[in-house]
Amino acid sequence: MPPRSSERISPTAYATGYFWYRHGLSHPALATPQGRRISRLMEPLMLGTRLLGGISLDALLLARHRGIDSVLGDAIEQGRIGQVIEIAAGLSPRGWAMKRRFGAGLRYIETDLPHMVALKQRLLDAGGLLTPGHSVVELDALADGGPQSLAALAKTLDPKLGTAIITEGLMNYLDPESALGVWRRIAGTLAKFPQGIYLNDVYLRPRRINPATLAFGAMLSTFVRGRMHFHFTSETQVVEVMKRCGFADAVLHQPGALPETKSYAGIRGGDGVSILEARAAVHPQARRRKKT
Ligand SMILES: C[S@@+](CC[C@H](N)C(=O)[O-])C[C@H]1O[C@@H](n2cnc3c(N)ncnc32)[C@H](O)[C@@H]1O
Repeated sequence: MPPRSSERISPTAYATGYFWYRHGLSHPALATPQGRRISRLMEPLMLGTRLLGGISLDALLLARHRGIDSVLGDAIEQGRIGQVIEIAAGLSPRGWAMKRRFGAGLRYIETDLPHMVALKQRLLDAGGLLTPGHSVVELDALADGGPQSLAALAKTLDPKLGTAIITEGLMNYLDPESALGVWRRIAGTLAKFPQGIYLNDVYLRPRRINPATLAFGAMLSTFVRGRMHFHFTSETQVVEVMKRCGFADAVLHQPGALPETKSYAGIRGGDGVSILEARAAVHPQARRRKKT
């Protein structure tokens, strides 16, 4: 399980932050010395995964990040989305990159637990990367109410704008009950806006798990100091669960179907990442607000 508000920043958050930088997706200001050090420590894990199971963790992470960028970018470009809440943003460059691409017309709110928010704010400030409409605020995805809840943050947004919520790299750390709670809160929040999409990385659980995948899972769980949870076995189940949580509909984008991730579809690891796009069931009041 990643850290709650009282704890320190997780090693994986530093490591992924450095990974995005190393692959040319991020700004040097977001690459930390801790990230570089942890990435070096992770090298044997990456190598073991490749040798044991033929799985490329690089392809997996790049397919996940670029896949979400692609679906989100299209939705903003088409005018469906005007504001974004990224939950558990960590050291991801997406807020900075999307603001660079879409400018003042886009509101982007990065959120995470307090220690990470303090660090991200410091790094963005030091790099001069924050522009109007881009902010970093504390949010606990597991909070049902109170100042750090999604509901409280949503009240500060423009109710007339289409809204996207992202949870890249978070949901597999959560047990099924907690994950369902997060999805219900997101569906309920997005229903208050004229349009809403939820984006997340999904790894379908294979029906038969081979020993290499098991070994990889065990190594990764040791590294992140907690169990990983794979919530779904099929797209049908994803759609069912999303609808049960309050979404109107959901699709899984496969890496081969998006131009930005096509090249990872033929690589083991990259081929296992799907991008979930769940659409909000929009409340009639939110629809009326859009017309006025
Ligand atoms: C593996 S990192 C992923 C960061 C980023 N999304 C990325 O892909 O680079 C997981 C992040 O989840 C955050 N996190 C853990 N528990 C959380 C919670 N209950 N609410 C919000 N964020 C949480 C951690 O602080 C960490 O930054």
